[in-house]
Amino acid sequence: MDVIEAIRTRKSIRGYKTDPVPKEILKEILDVAARAPSSMNTQPWEVAIITGEVLDNIKRSNIEMLMSGAMPNPDMPGEAYEGVYRQRQVDVAVQLFQLMGIAREDKERKAEWMQRGFRFFDAPAAIILSVDRSLNESRSLFDIGTISQTICLTALNYGLGTCIEGQGVMYPEVVRKYAGIPESKRILICIAIGYPDWDFPANKVESKREPVESIATWCGFD
Ligand SMILES: Cc1cc2nc3c(=O)[nH]c(=O)nc-3n(C[C@H](O)[C@H](O)[C@H](O)COP(=O)(O)O)c2cc1C
Repeated sequence: MDVIEAIRTRKSIRGYKTDPVPKEILKEILDVAARAPSSMNTQPWEVAIITGEVLDNIKRSNIEMLMSGAMPNPDMPGEAYEGVYRQRQVDVAVQLFQLMGIAREDKERKAEWMQRGFRFFDAPAAIILSVDRSLNESRSLFDIGTISQTICLTALNYGLGTCIEGQGVMYPEVVRKYAGIPESKRILICIAIGYPDWDFPANKVESKREPVESIATWCGFD
């Protein structure tokens, strides 16, 4: 697949077929994606690939935590967005809820939707990305970003869809327990991965982007 086509067609997939993803394919994806650049070639990423019973245990335990009202305590905390950032967040959420037929005031279905994220959108596999706590936080975060997008783009070559997501690792103690990730590693993000179910309404989402004119400042051009 052409690189431009891959970048333009990649989108977050939030509904998957149940078909398992063969280990060999996941291995090939990681082999390619590990070509991602990193600060001074430090390659800080540590990757746990989860499926089967381990994934089921994490999903179940995540939902138990969520339902119990336990406060999420992610190793990479999020933030409450404001202004234009909040607006963009709302825009995509409104689109997702419309596609899923979830009304604004329907708390029950909104809660169900949130649970999907904590269940890795029912993907048959998930990739957990961690870095050693001894590393500089911002550099290693950047490096995890480069490999994350590279994994998502490479996956397209195998007909696979992905969703980078914070929700799956909101309770890092759960992931640590079942995936055997030690406390010395900061669990930063996960990627749900599997064959897209194109009939799943949320997969029709078309997230918007700002035009180049509003993000770019041209310097030294005529
Ligand atoms: C760091 C990061 C965390 C994300 N966490 C979530 C998440 O927890 N749940 C979710 O549904 N999507 C999550 N996303 C996906 C974004 O919502 C998505 O990338 C954005 O809306 C743009 O849509 P697109 O990926 O379809 O182009 C995350 C993406 C990134 C890069």
